[in-house]
Amino acid sequence: MAQPLTQSQPQETKTKPKSSMLSYIAMIILFLIILVGIAVLIIWLVLKPKHLQYSVEDAAIHNFNLTDANHLYANFDFTIRSNNPNSKVSILYDSIEVSIRYEDQTLATNAIQPFFQPRKNVTRMHVRLTAQTVALYDSVPKDLKLEKTSGDIELDVLIRAKIRFKVGALKLKHRVLKVFCSKLLVNFSKAKTFERYSCDVEM
Ligand SMILES: *[C@@H]1O[C@H](CO)[C@@H](O)[C@H](O)[C@H]1NC(C)=O
Ligand SMILES: *[C@@H]1O[C@H](CO)[C@@H](O)[C@H](O)[C@H]1NC(C)=O
Ligand SMILES: *[C@@H]1O[C@H](CO)[C@@H](O)[C@H](O)[C@H]1NC(C)=O
Repeated sequence: MAQPLTQSQPQETKTKPKSSMLSYIAMIILFLIILVGIAVLIIWLVLKPKHLQYSVEDAAIHNFNLTDANHLYANFDFTIRSNNPNSKVSILYDSIEVSIRYEDQTLATNAIQPFFQPRKNVTRMHVRLTAQTVALYDSVPKDLKLEKTSGDIELDVLIRAKIRFKVGALKLKHRVLKVFCSKLLVNFSKAKTFERYSCDVEM
């Protein structure tokens, strides 16, 4: 029992300087990581990014055609207003997708060109979503017909985007932006003026 112990002792003293050197380096790296983390936190608290604001400013439906076979053809046009109220943070939209739903059924989806939104900027997007031979199920076709005769249709507009905050030259990591414009009342009549509708934003 005593023999292996005395044998291993010289080995230990040989490896000791190397392992203490490694743990020293590890401690420095850990310290630097903590330091960077604190710096990012302080920058973040100083900047205090405000929530982005989204609203729908105009909406219209064109070429609405619900066939007897419960297939829908229609163009939905929206003017979406995106407001970045931040004075120090700009936003990179790397991907952005808009879809419309009616009673939990997606009617149409469209991707928007990626864009850069500067600080304190309002950008208006004109989005056309086309429902092409969408097969409707359950009570959706019947309800859509009813809404068509009443003149108004209640739609949900959903936006999903992959964004990055940009502070000076620093680009922060990706995050997902979700915008919900629920129960948006759109009139089939083009003459009807649309009232601005504020959406919920989740980040
Ligand atoms: C609606 O679609 C059907 C089937 O494609 C077509 O026969 C019909 O003419 C269309 N109606 C209108 C008003 O466009
Ligand atoms: C917002 O940013 C876009 C893109 O850079 C620009 O075209 C537009 O003029 C800006 N709008 C305002 C109100 O500053
Ligand atoms: C929508 O338009 C129809 C005519 O197409 C009209 O009768 C109805 O009152 C309008 N609804 C609203 C809420 O203005």
